[in-house]
Amino acid sequence: METLLLNAKDKGATDAAAKILKNGGLVAIPTETVYGLAANAFDAKACENIFIAKGRPGDNPLIVHISDMEMLNEVVSEIPEGAKILAEKYWPGPLTMIMKKSEKVPDVTSANLPTVAVRFPSHPVAREIIEKAGFPLAAPSANLSGSPSPTSFEHCVHDLMGRVEGIIDGGASSVGVESTIISLAGEKPVLLRPGYVTLEQLQEVLGEVMVSHAVLEKLEEGEKVLSPGMKYKHYAPKAQVTLIKASSDDYVKYVNEHAKDGVYALCFDEEAEKLSVSTVTYGSEFSDEQQAEHIFDALRIIDESGAEKVFAHSPKVTGVGLAVYNRLIRAAGFDVIEL
Ligand code: TXA
Ligand code: MG
Repeated sequence: METLLLNAKDKGATDAAAKILKNGGLVAIPTETVYGLAANAFDAKACENIFIAKGRPGDNPLIVHISDMEMLNEVVSEIPEGAKILAEKYWPGPLTMIMKKSEKVPDVTSANLPTVAVRFPSHPVAREIIEKAGFPLAAPSANLSGSPSPTSFEHCVHDLMGRVEGIIDGGASSVGVESTIISLAGEKPVLLRPGYVTLEQLQEVLGEVMVSHAVLEKLEEGEKVLSPGMKYKHYAPKAQVTLIKASSDDYVKYVNEHAKDGVYALCFDEEAEKLSVSTVTYGSEFSDEQQAEHIFDALRIIDESGAEKVFAHSPKVTGVGLAVYNRLIRAAGFDVIEL
């Protein structure tokens, strides 16, 4: 199929994107977290096409994006107290909340679950397109299933050219990792995916927050999880990645001792010049926000480098670092060395 490439800065671009969506088509759109592959959330056929375009397993539900609180009432059947408080504080922004779904949300969108994931993005282009379309947009990350999430227009073109009706350029995603997902559909709030809104911040608002064990650990074969996305080996790079938990000095020493052809270091900015192997950096050791912003681009660069073996320096697991760690440990297939 022909893919219409748009730039949000051009006049009429968001109108053109909204028009495609109104006609049941798919458009990759920028959000502050990562780019999303959007379709009318109420149109079962359009949502089915998202699964086809991405090669996404049908049992992995989509996130529904809204641009005002009225739309929230259309997609959920009730709004728990905790959700109201979190919405007040973190919406619009990189937080997704799971609630009981309304009848208007088709089963394909929620992958037959009685719940729906909802997010109110802060990115002005995303909001403008939702407003112009006039309906909520179902949008998973706009990558091919199994590739790192796209944080730029170029990433989307690389993965989806010829597979979707449109891709709109809205610049690089500033957060860089997908939204925090919290379930408010059960008795207690459960963190399903860490993101830019941190566990510490959620605890401050809600008190106790359980953490799904899929956040940090490998699932058992056939294990049932609250968030189906967690069971797939996401973000799988071509190279074999090992995550190294160590101080900067010990990491540098270890990698230099294991230097040979095909070995790469996925390291912090401050470490690159001390390493004797090829390096790809993903931000300063001292900024978890920078690490989040750059991690997916760094993983794509590694994929294109022809690296065979990658030693990735583990981020800290506090604050936004937990989100970066969660993505990296999956890229490493849970292969961790602690020094
Ligand atoms: O930042 C983001 O969240 C981006 C942008 C585009 O908004 N979207 C995104 O979507 O990351 P996706 O599909 O790549 O990840 C959605 C995750 C999956 O792990 C899925 O299993 C989970 O959300 N999810 C969706 N609906 C759910 C539900 N009803 N219950 C539990 N998990 C759900
Ligand atoms: Mg995804």
